[in-house]
Amino acid sequence: VYNYFYQFPLPIPPQAEVKTSYFNERTQTWIDFYEVHIREFQKKVYPNLPGISTMVGYDGISPGPTFRIPKGREALVRFVNDYGRPSSIHLHGSYSRAPFDGWAEDVIEPGQYKDYYYPNQQEARTLWYHDHAIHITALNAYYGQAGFYIIYDPAEEARLGLPQGKYDISLMIQSKKYRSNGELFSVEGETTSLWGDVIHVNGQPWPFLNVEPRKYRFRLLDASVSRAFRLSFVETGKTTPITFQVISADAGYLSRPITTSDLYLAMAELMKDDDFAGTDRVMQFVVGNTVTDFSNNGGPPSSLTSLDMPPPKSSLDHSFRFARTNSMWTINGVAFADVENRVLAKPKRGSVELWELENNSGGWSHPIHIHLVDFQVISRSGGRAVQPYEQVALKDVVLLGPNEKVRVLARYAPWDGVYMFHCHNLVHEDHDMMAAFNVSVLED
Ligand code: C2O
Ligand code: CU
Repeated sequence: VYNYFYQFPLPIPPQAEVKTSYFNERTQTWIDFYEVHIREFQKKVYPNLPGISTMVGYDGISPGPTFRIPKGREALVRFVNDYGRPSSIHLHGSYSRAPFDGWAEDVIEPGQYKDYYYPNQQEARTLWYHDHAIHITALNAYYGQAGFYIIYDPAEEARLGLPQGKYDISLMIQSKKYRSNGELFSVEGETTSLWGDVIHVNGQPWPFLNVEPRKYRFRLLDASVSRAFRLSFVETGKTTPITFQVISADAGYLSRPITTSDLYLAMAELMKDDDFAGTDRVMQFVVGNTVTDFSNNGGPPSSLTSLDMPPPKSSLDHSFRFARTNSMWTINGVAFADVENRVLAKPKRGSVELWELENNSGGWSHPIHIHLVDFQVISRSGGRAVQPYEQVALKDVVLLGPNEKVRVLARYAPWDGVYMFHCHNLVHEDHDMMAAFNVSVLED
């Protein structure tokens, strides 16, 4: 199976198309309407093996169609469930109103649809939409329910001199596992993690991409169930990695670019991974010798944006222990299934809270995601320091390594409502390392 490296080109998902647009007289704004069908598709991943895999994707492809939305343009997306299991759609990175945030129990049953409203007023950023259905998120996402959603600001891109168009490429990295007949191995029944030994980019194992000798912008997303990556570019036959610039994180641009030769994505330091034959490589860039367009080849400038950091605060509002208790993954001893006790915080709307996240689960790492807000990573102790690109960023996921404590500061706004926070190792999330916070204007 492994003499399979760099045989097929990188797939580029099609762009989601607006079906119709409405003008809202009251707010004097346009709303674009989209429709996406969740459905099965068959895929032969290994051309030389008999196995055909049944996957499930948005519009029957994985990654799903890429939304490209100019900042400020509202969207209504109808997700129609033409598949046999419930789905719930979360737009990861969006400050969606609670009813449109993909609450795990708020599922679209087979045969039903739901319209999700997204305001898109945030600064330019790369978001992604993925399944969030109760107890089957790992399964649904692993079989293909994930796609890119980009809010862009053309004036800002031009001002920053960033590569655009065919020089701006989204890369969704995922690890999966196959049977010897070439058929996708299920994630069902896993209770700790699924790493997988086959690395996919945009749905294709170990693809190649023909590039021109000029600057590119890559939007990197680790959409794996459990595997984290430490990424570098290495020229064939060489060992020293090439440097590159990191210009953004979860919540959009960094305040300034960070030059590095490697980048940790999500659960990076989790070295619990078995080492497989192919997990040391991801994809290949084949550099040609002609450049067809030199525009925006000079950036980025030394300053990108000024981040709207929350005002400093030193007193802790909450501490949350992420642990394994009685073979369940829990937060402060609570599992998401514990309906009575799972609301662990009640920030007043608009208030700034400092949360301490503590890893009490031995050798495991947990990438912790808080819905609704963007946070500042204030400190990390017990392991690594706050990384350079974490210092100049706002984030919505932070890696909590073994025995680490991380403090995050955020303003709980702009909406009221009950939102989730959880480990983004999807197996942990399903079993049941997820809880909720209730943003409200009311006193307790
Ligand atoms: Cu990307 Cu609650 O998830
Ligand atoms: Cu976890």
